[in-house]
Amino acid sequence: MADESPTNEAQATVDRIRRALIHPSTNVEPAPARREVTAVGDRPNIDFGALPEYELLKIHKAAGDLAGIENPFYRLHDGLAADTTSVAGHAVVNFSSYDYLGLNGHPEITTAAKQAIDRYGTTVSASRLTAGERQIHRDLEAALAGLHGVEDAVTFVSGHATNVSVIGGLLGADDLIVTDSLIHNSVVEGAKLSGAKRILCPHGDIEAIERALRLNRRRHRRAVIIVEGLYSMDGDMPEIGALVRLKRRYDAWLMVDEAHSLGVLGRSGRGIAEEQDVDPTDIDIWMGTLSKTLVSTGGYIAGSRKLIELLKYTSPGFVYSVGVAPAVAAAAHAAIAVLQREPWRMQKLRQNGQHFTTAAKARGLDTGASIGASVVPIVVGSSPTTVILSHRLLSRGYNVVPIIFPGVAENQSRLRFFITCRHSVEQMTGVLDAVADELPAIRQAPSFVSAFLGR
Ligand SMILES: Cc1ncc(COP(=O)(O)O)c(C=O)c1O
Repeated sequence: MADESPTNEAQATVDRIRRALIHPSTNVEPAPARREVTAVGDRPNIDFGALPEYELLKIHKAAGDLAGIENPFYRLHDGLAADTTSVAGHAVVNFSSYDYLGLNGHPEITTAAKQAIDRYGTTVSASRLTAGERQIHRDLEAALAGLHGVEDAVTFVSGHATNVSVIGGLLGADDLIVTDSLIHNSVVEGAKLSGAKRILCPHGDIEAIERALRLNRRRHRRAVIIVEGLYSMDGDMPEIGALVRLKRRYDAWLMVDEAHSLGVLGRSGRGIAEEQDVDPTDIDIWMGTLSKTLVSTGGYIAGSRKLIELLKYTSPGFVYSVGVAPAVAAAAHAAIAVLQREPWRMQKLRQNGQHFTTAAKARGLDTGASIGASVVPIVVGSSPTTVILSHRLLSRGYNVVPIIFPGVAENQSRLRFFITCRHSVEQMTGVLDAVADELPAIRQAPSFVSAFLGR
């Protein structure tokens, strides 16, 4: 490839991105090697912008720049984001919050967080293993174990770090990790860290999981199947009973990430085991986050007493990391109490999810495989169109963040709606009418899109 001068570099980037968008199966080609590294004194002059990885960022930016619209990512919110929020001083209806049960800012939860600060301060200052723990940690973990119907739980400071540390620590080079292709990045990173053989099965394909185990299990020491309780991109769920049968047949562990299903699935919000009437102790490792329905920050593992004890003494992300901050633990604990006391929130959420999905389909919109619980995509199928649509919705008073290539395959570019129990029928009808209005208009007058794609 020809050398790129700084002046034609932007165009070259757009060309590379354009090729990737037209042929989504091909990765964006990395930028060609550029300028010699020059020394400034004895320090190399490091230009992170010259890294090939940096080129990927330009996909998002180029789409926005060519359309003459603002970056749809990192929008600045001025206050508490619930069913409504304020972006740059403008009140908008919000469909981009994980606060499915509308608990962020709940007086009981904020009071619990403030009281925990008053009592313990803003941090526990060190790892719990070495510096000790607070009652609030024990209360939260007992409540999480109770919600899942298992013996014990342990909390980590981040949901993402929970998966990385636990999967990376429990599995090793002799082991096998079988996951769904849409599994969250934190699981992928943990699996990479472990050094285990990794097999990604097509989304929702139980037969592919069975085949992966049948063909590979005997060559490995341990095997684990990892799925999500409710998939964060597509809003559908796996069939847990079938996975339990597979894990028994092939002597594997079953791990379920309930980040988006705790407080969402099941009559009383206990997650996919309750939803599908499965014994929760048949799942070896429950994972979840405190950051969605529990309106806090952090992650946890729930399971047998021995599993939790093992993690408390060996998992690097727990042993070598500070304990969850008092306010953070207290908020999650108080959120569990409200969730259990107010099942109407789960019922309303499900009603809203069903209403939104049915109303979207009635307008001819593609909601993919979503079961209409809390996450509902509207698949648009083109990154530039999705970005423009998100921008137009914002100007009509709706905040919905686009998910585009390389986050998903180009033909799967989408707006991802997070439905909450606070949304009203009017808000949902309003945004769907706006999508149904704008989408054909963008597709029919695609001067920008066709220019972008070179068609
Ligand atoms: C399925 C899944 N697992 C884990 C995580 C990481 O959780 P957290 O954002 O709390 O770190 C997320 C985040 O969205 C997720 O969607």
